[in-house]
Amino acid sequence: MRTALDIRRAGEREVAPSGDARAYRWTVVGPERHPLAAALRAASRDDAPEAVAVLLGRTFHQVDNRRLLRAIRTAVARGSRLAVVHLGAGGGSLARTAAIEHPGLSCVVAELTGGPTPAAVRAATALVAAASPVTAEVRVDRDGRLSTTDWHPTDLPAAAGTAGPAGTVLVTGGLGGLGLRVAAVLACRHGLHPILADTATPERLGTAARWHLDRIAATTGVTVRRADVSDGAAMRQALAGTGSGPLVGVVHCAGLLRGGPVTAGTAAGLTAVQAAKVDGLRHALEVVDRHALRRVLVFGSITAERPHRSLGAYALANELLRRCAVRLAADLPAAATLVAEWSIWSGAGMAHGTPGAVAAARRLNLPPVPLGPGMAAVDALWRLPAAPGRAQRLLIAGR
Ligand SMILES: NC(=O)c1ccc[n+]([C@@H]2O[C@H](COP(=O)([O-])OP(=O)(O)OC[C@H]3O[C@@H](n4cnc5c(N)ncnc54)[C@H](OP(=O)(O)O)[C@@H]3O)[C@@H](O)[C@H]2O)c1
Repeated sequence: MRTALDIRRAGEREVAPSGDARAYRWTVVGPERHPLAAALRAASRDDAPEAVAVLLGRTFHQVDNRRLLRAIRTAVARGSRLAVVHLGAGGGSLARTAAIEHPGLSCVVAELTGGPTPAAVRAATALVAAASPVTAEVRVDRDGRLSTTDWHPTDLPAAAGTAGPAGTVLVTGGLGGLGLRVAAVLACRHGLHPILADTATPERLGTAARWHLDRIAATTGVTVRRADVSDGAAMRQALAGTGSGPLVGVVHCAGLLRGGPVTAGTAAGLTAVQAAKVDGLRHALEVVDRHALRRVLVFGSITAERPHRSLGAYALANELLRRCAVRLAADLPAAATLVAEWSIWSGAGMAHGTPGAVAAARRLNLPPVPLGPGMAAVDALWRLPAAPGRAQRLLIAGR
């Protein structure tokens, strides 16, 4: 489908750091038993420039927010090299945002995708010490080969193509600027009955939003539930007895935007932004019958991949959301999971409501997603041929 959008799917490209490896005096933040800790200590030289490495595991824990902030602040204060090495947990988007906010900070991010084999540990140890590091996040496979994500232009199926699954759909953040419009698309074009789960209530809606809610109510009917998606028990309680048939889809739109420089952030602040996104997705998938589920559409942000000044907390929450969605997709036997990593939207939503945000995004070469083409893309995403049990990533911006 030709749209006014720039849509890209993730591919892979081999990379090599240029220049020789340098010697560093490493400060290691993270568990002593991390496979990189001993290797970095062995490579450390007392008379060499300082460098800081934060080492994280396979899954992200709350304590990792503290570790990341500590390592970033230390590296910024010393003006030293910063390395983030993890086994799948993530965290690189926060460090890469800090590197944009502090141009003197030289940041390297490596994920050991095939585990900490001796070859991977050797390659990662050389990578984090490279004279000219790769600025994108680097994956290190079990044989020590390095690659980054390469983004290829792609199209979506035409709106007249295959119909998506019919039934009931749960939309978290369903009273928000985008969630409500997505619910309208799914109700009016796909005949789905939406359950809108949100901390907000319909009384707060403006005239345009109210019009969408009334339109959905008149088309397929709508169920509105006040629920904090970051609270699993509250979600279960809110969705109990909705009696609206099998849930065939989940659209996860609940989220918060908190801006500010990375070094001014707190671990509690990072956790708060992650709660609606990451815990919210887990809880939404816990309250549905996994076997009946056909589609999961996750609203992520392009900032997780292309960091932007002052959006470190948001970028990290969206990176962790994407990683969580990829992990959970493997456990959904009949559902196709799509992670759409959107640029800022114009016309509705959290950025539209922030004075100057859309204009600023245009200046920063982050073309906004216009509402009409964006919702046409949502329609097309719902029709994408299913590839159950795995997640597909799409980066979507305006042109
Ligand atoms: N708009 C954009 O430019 C853009 C770009 C890229 C990605 N996204 C993502 O798209 C999604 C939808 O964004 P939007 O623009 O529609 O934002 P929005 O207008 O702020 O709507 C988000 C909705 O989620 C609700 N919410 C927040 N925390 C919640 C929680 N813990 N439990 C239940 N509901 C909660 C909010 O309620 P309250 O008002 O009570 O907080 C709000 O109604 C978000 O995840 C956002 O990160 C948006």
